[in-house]
Amino acid sequence: MSNAHRYGPWAVVTGASDGIGRALAEHLATQGINIVLAARSVDRLRALATELEAGHGIETLVAAVDLSDSVGVDTLVDVTRDLDVGLVVLAAGFGTTGTFLETPLAAELELTAVNVIAVTHLAHVFAGRLAIRGRGGIVLFGSIVGWQGVPGQANYAASKAYVQSLAEGLHDELRPRGVDVLAVAPGPVDSGFGARAGLTMSSATSTEVVARVTLAALGNRRTVIPGTRGKFLTAALLPLPRRIRSLILGKVITGMREPRRARITQR
Ligand SMILES: NC(=O)c1ccc[n+]([C@@H]2O[C@H](COP(=O)([O-])OP(=O)(O)OC[C@H]3O[C@@H](n4cnc5c(N)ncnc54)[C@H](OP(=O)(O)O)[C@@H]3O)[C@@H](O)[C@H]2O)c1
Repeated sequence: MSNAHRYGPWAVVTGASDGIGRALAEHLATQGINIVLAARSVDRLRALATELEAGHGIETLVAAVDLSDSVGVDTLVDVTRDLDVGLVVLAAGFGTTGTFLETPLAAELELTAVNVIAVTHLAHVFAGRLAIRGRGGIVLFGSIVGWQGVPGQANYAASKAYVQSLAEGLHDELRPRGVDVLAVAPGPVDSGFGARAGLTMSSATSTEVVARVTLAALGNRRTVIPGTRGKFLTAALLPLPRRIRSLILGKVITGMREPRRARITQR
């Protein structure tokens, strides 16, 4: 069954203005799926919408929403109400870097709002709509840092542990309702993520690879780890006790931090 048949005619992609969300929107457009493009950067979303409509003859809808705010989440729920949505990709998210005491509380609460609260809200709404429809998919983004606590990224790693666990539970709950749920747990990816988190990414996987691997896994897997570095780190670390993994990943994050410590790039 083609993706357009199983997951069309409309997909909702959050985080579509950049990185992984943008790459997934580009892939879905090549499959003839219409897309709701959601993020805050309206100019980037409009430019992408024009490009995808002209290049692939699909329809798009731009939703300029701030998902750290319940108004933004409610807006996305409202503007998609009358569309026949078959796929929801919840890629909007960001990381902070620094110890919990270095990072401002406002940044950590914003992270929780985008990575956890908005994901929970949108997953709940669309799980309900897709279950009634009896067919579709939901893609959620964890991370390899979500397999254990990580000093220097404590709240980000906790948010990704939450998403991973949510996705695994929903996978089994929604499968009998015809809805495929996939957890994607990347290692470092070459996207806007590193700049916002104050991390230098090396040996990072391209967003193109993440998008391709994600769509190939949807409907076949519970969890997918795209990229060689993410797979390698997971295989090397998972056999170790959690506390050892935390220590090692804490050192990895310290090594990735940009020279001026505790940079939190706020947009
Ligand atoms: N890159 C990595 O190394 C990596 C590794 C593991 C997991 N992940 C996860 O993969 C997902 C995608 O990350 P990425 O690498 O594509 O990062 P990215 O290039 O920085 O893109 C993040 C997207 O999220 C959107 N976003 C951020 N805050 C938002 C808000 N308040 N409201 C609405 N949209 C918001 C951004 O759009 P605007 O700024 O326009 O709002 C952007 O489109 C995230 O959940 C991330 O945690 C990334």
